[in-house]
Amino acid sequence: MAKDTWIGDVLAGNYNGKEVELMGWIHRSRGSNKIRFIVLRDSTGNVQCVVKRDTIGDEAFEAMKTALIESSVIIRGTVQSTDREHGYEIQVTSCEIVGGVNPERPFPITESAMAEADGGETEFLLDNRHLYLRTGRMTTMLKMRSTVFGAVHSYFRDLDFVEYQAPNFVAGAVEGGSTLFEVPYFGRKAYLTQSWQLYAEAAMPALERLYTMAPSFRAEKSRTRRHLTEFWHAEMEMAWASNADIMEHGEGVVRHIARTLLDEREEELTEVGRDLDLVAQYADNPYPRMRYDEAVETLQGMGVDVEWGQDLDYSKEKVLTADFEVPHFLTHYPRIAKPFYHRPDPEDPKYVLCHDLLAPEGYGEIIGGGERTWSEKEILERIDEEGTPRDAYEFYIDIRRYGGVPHGGFGMGVDRVVTWLTGADHIRETIPFPRDSRRVTP
Ligand code: 4AD
Ligand code: MG
Repeated sequence: MAKDTWIGDVLAGNYNGKEVELMGWIHRSRGSNKIRFIVLRDSTGNVQCVVKRDTIGDEAFEAMKTALIESSVIIRGTVQSTDREHGYEIQVTSCEIVGGVNPERPFPITESAMAEADGGETEFLLDNRHLYLRTGRMTTMLKMRSTVFGAVHSYFRDLDFVEYQAPNFVAGAVEGGSTLFEVPYFGRKAYLTQSWQLYAEAAMPALERLYTMAPSFRAEKSRTRRHLTEFWHAEMEMAWASNADIMEHGEGVVRHIARTLLDEREEELTEVGRDLDLVAQYADNPYPRMRYDEAVETLQGMGVDVEWGQDLDYSKEKVLTADFEVPHFLTHYPRIAKPFYHRPDPEDPKYVLCHDLLAPEGYGEIIGGGERTWSEKEILERIDEEGTPRDAYEFYIDIRRYGGVPHGGFGMGVDRVVTWLTGADHIRETIPFPRDSRRVTP
């Protein structure tokens, strides 16, 4: 029963005057005992179908009349142009219900249920996430998300980066112990990976240019607009590269994503109320570079309480980026603010050769990356300085023992990029089943 006609194509006028067979779900239904107006939904759009008792017969008409919202149906009929809403409707000649809905358990997501929900609308929709996915807002978001994923792949593949997979069970931290998820592992302790990076560095001398897109895990205790405990991480690693070389790719991939969204998802961006000119600005204009010290001075000038040496948290990035017109790179963070793998600046080892890319409009960090400490001597110093036991990192140190080279990379929070480019309020709007400290269901 392969489906070959899509509502989106009907709405585009490709079938005017023709007979079609449409498969989909009942989105709305109203009318009388003689005529029903059924709005049919599929993954590509909604179309009104006019069902007349006289045309389809009593039995089929009764079935359609009593069919509840979200019943799945097959509808056959003639496409007719109208001057209403979408321009086309279907004059139904026959129809059948495929999967009905039990009247004792009607589709739970309704305006009144949302208004009356004990825990509020947001929690209600999260509890019903598996059903909420099929609503217009989520469907649109998931399509834009898919485009962002596609753009990351095409950016790196077009430049001959090799896609490479790292393990998700690991023995040590990359981004500090406080957000490690511990899992029992056959009588030992293992952790869920926070980043692909250390294992990517192992393959750097083999592949030289590599990337991935995979989940990373962080035990973020507080629930914020931009933190998930399971997020999608696009990461790249490159041999023979400096901090500046890596930033060029960070800028390159983000601008490519913005451009691809405009090319492929203009309709969806408009649907969620995104200003297309802003997205075009992010695609077309270069991203300035700014040193951490300058950012701290700017913040202090704005009256924000920030001390040199702190990593900038969301509250500070929000203020800093509120008036940015495009994303900005912040470079040269203090060594004490960043993990051991960052390479100290040979010109002033108080700083490391790193960068964060901060998105404008108050969104803040979307990328973290930089040059890696690549000599054996330096990496041992950095690991000891952090007070981390060396055992879990022996493999990592080995990479430096056999022909170390300058190299670097970055990690980009894909869900954060989707949040920012679509103008969403909260990161959980952008992922099908958001995970945070309070929720692992559904
Ligand atoms: O800045 P982070 O911690 O850097 C790393 O993990 C490096 N090892 C990456 C690398 O160089 N290969 O994380 C990178 C990005 C952040 O800028 C942010 O966009 C995203 O990952 N991120 C999160 N996104 C959603 N929820 C969370 N809890 C996130 N933690 C980090
Ligand atoms: Mg970071």
